[in-house]
Amino acid sequence: MKGKAIEILNDNWRGGFTIPCQGLYPFQWSWDSGFIAIGLAHFNMGRAKKEISTLFDAQWENGFLPHIVFHTESETYFPGPEYHRADLHPKSSKRSISTGMTQPPVTGFVLRELYRIAKDKEDILLFIEKVVDRVYANHAYFYEHRDPNNEGLVYIYHNWESGTDNSPLWDDIFASMGSPALSFQRKDTDQVDLSERPSKREYDHYLHIIEIAKRYNYDDKKIAEFSPFLVQDPLFNAMLIKSNQSLLDLYSMIGHNQEKIDQLIAWQEKSIKTFNEKLFDEELGAYVHYDLRNERPLKYVSSSSFSPLFAGIPGQKMADKMVRTLLDRFGGEDHYLCASFDRTNERFNPKQYWRGPVWINLNWMLYSGLKDYGFKDIAERVKNDSIEMIEKAGFYEYFDPRKEIYGKGTKGYGGNNFSWTAALIIDLLNKD
Ligand code: DGY
Repeated sequence: MKGKAIEILNDNWRGGFTIPCQGLYPFQWSWDSGFIAIGLAHFNMGRAKKEISTLFDAQWENGFLPHIVFHTESETYFPGPEYHRADLHPKSSKRSISTGMTQPPVTGFVLRELYRIAKDKEDILLFIEKVVDRVYANHAYFYEHRDPNNEGLVYIYHNWESGTDNSPLWDDIFASMGSPALSFQRKDTDQVDLSERPSKREYDHYLHIIEIAKRYNYDDKKIAEFSPFLVQDPLFNAMLIKSNQSLLDLYSMIGHNQEKIDQLIAWQEKSIKTFNEKLFDEELGAYVHYDLRNERPLKYVSSSSFSPLFAGIPGQKMADKMVRTLLDRFGGEDHYLCASFDRTNERFNPKQYWRGPVWINLNWMLYSGLKDYGFKDIAERVKNDSIEMIEKAGFYEYFDPRKEIYGKGTKGYGGNNFSWTAALIIDLLNKD
């Protein structure tokens, strides 16, 4: 299994960065790159470092890190650079072509993971010293520009920024947006069946939000004022908090960065406090998203609801509650952990992208969070389920949680030979 995973990462390497998979995603995606670097670190640390430095080469002057870097042209992806027009923003990178939106801030904890995996600690620390301020600048961008109420929670302005692109979480927001029906030529459904991808109507919403952001040249203040989509996402914020903690660890190892350490401690205190007060839903026993535009919680449980375990955010009692919710709504011996959306909800769809299928990156976080809180057996189940799904259905982008459908010839969904599936299984196989 490890051999095949390495082969996939080798095939998807484009001399400087790794594509998520061929055809469907032909560029560099930022959170993909972070997870990929963790896998690469186990067999080629030089390439893991390059993956991260290439991503940081595209960082904007204001610390913003874009979600896609368009290193080459491609006929197989829509919407491309000419649609996104990130150059409208005065501080966008002059060296790289990118989108004007971001993705969950993984780079802090990825550097910490590279340190954990590295055999030569001195060498990796030298690399980390070179790039760590880039991560800090990225976090400073978030706290300065994405937290209009100064709460310690940052917003996302597009569902693509969440990483959980078409989650049912967004349905209510989309229904209130009044997006026009647009005419465009999708490329994803040339490669993957529509039943596994977002609908045409959903793409209308995705493009409509970008149109509004472009109208204001991607100005953060204007986006905060006018974007119809403005959400405080527990997954996004948990990753920021996890990465803050990683920066604290790394700066302490490096030394001489007291001012940054003090700032990071201040961010952490405020963020964790608001996170617990505002996003934990006692009734559901899990964290939920908050729709900042319409000032209401989105009362649904998704795999993102458990990501705070990965960042050490809940107290033990809250964690106990979350695990009960996890087993009630996502568990059951006849299902693999962990579906991306509440299986007991009518919006659950086991095949369609983020509306139900299992994703390996969320499982990788869940495994680590459950272990940290002492739920060793369930953590093992998450790990073994991940391995079993890949063994039975291939190195796909996402997987059906229903065990009954797996038989001879069953395949996963979305893109095949998917890089982060390969990378994170290498890491999971190395963990005990
Ligand atoms: C896509 O095109 O589906 C991507 O996930 C956007 O980031």
